[in-house]
Amino acid sequence: MTSATEDLKKKFNPTNPKWAVDAINFPPDKAKLYGHPMAEDGWVHSHNALRMEIKDFKGALDKIEINSIKLGSKDLKEWELDAIKKWWTAHKEHVTSHHETEDEIFNPYFRTRIKYPEKLETDHAGLVEIINEIDEDVSNRKLPISRNELVSTLRRIWNRYEKFMLPHLLEEEEVSKNRYISILIEIFSNPYHIFICPTLHI
Ligand SMILES: [Fe+2]
Ligand SMILES: [Fe+2]
Repeated sequence: MTSATEDLKKKFNPTNPKWAVDAINFPPDKAKLYGHPMAEDGWVHSHNALRMEIKDFKGALDKIEINSIKLGSKDLKEWELDAIKKWWTAHKEHVTSHHETEDEIFNPYFRTRIKYPEKLETDHAGLVEIINEIDEDVSNRKLPISRNELVSTLRRIWNRYEKFMLPHLLEEEEVSKNRYISILIEIFSNPYHIFICPTLHI
């Protein structure tokens, strides 16, 4: 058992059968089969990729403002608009496939053996609304575009997106002291199939 798992057990007991759907046939006794700490599992890594992109886009918005001086133009250049659209399309594809993987593969599988909360799935609907809002704004943009207007509009939506998404990712990983990942580790014996799902786009 890893020291991270030991620490966790001091605070929260994932082996309590109350978290299991069928503790007789699938008892919570599998943690010893895992050779990596929770922070290193594939699910957390896939969330870290989303966290990085959310942070990167905020940095890009700052750069667009700076470019007003650097490029001597208050309006966006064509290549900048192109880059924003391409980047957004890739991020949207990334986050959408992440949600689909959870909704269609992970969560139904989790629910065969653990009591996994509905909220983590219903959160996706709220996130999709914000994603659609960003998508509409970015897709409909045509030159000329004022840098200040673009940055202030996208920052406003992006901040809402970030405020919703970051707690959601954290909640999936570690509500109540890593509750869900630690329960999953206790109940499922095959980390490869659960946490390194080949359909994840990372
Ligand atoms: Fe999610
Ligand atoms: Fe997730």
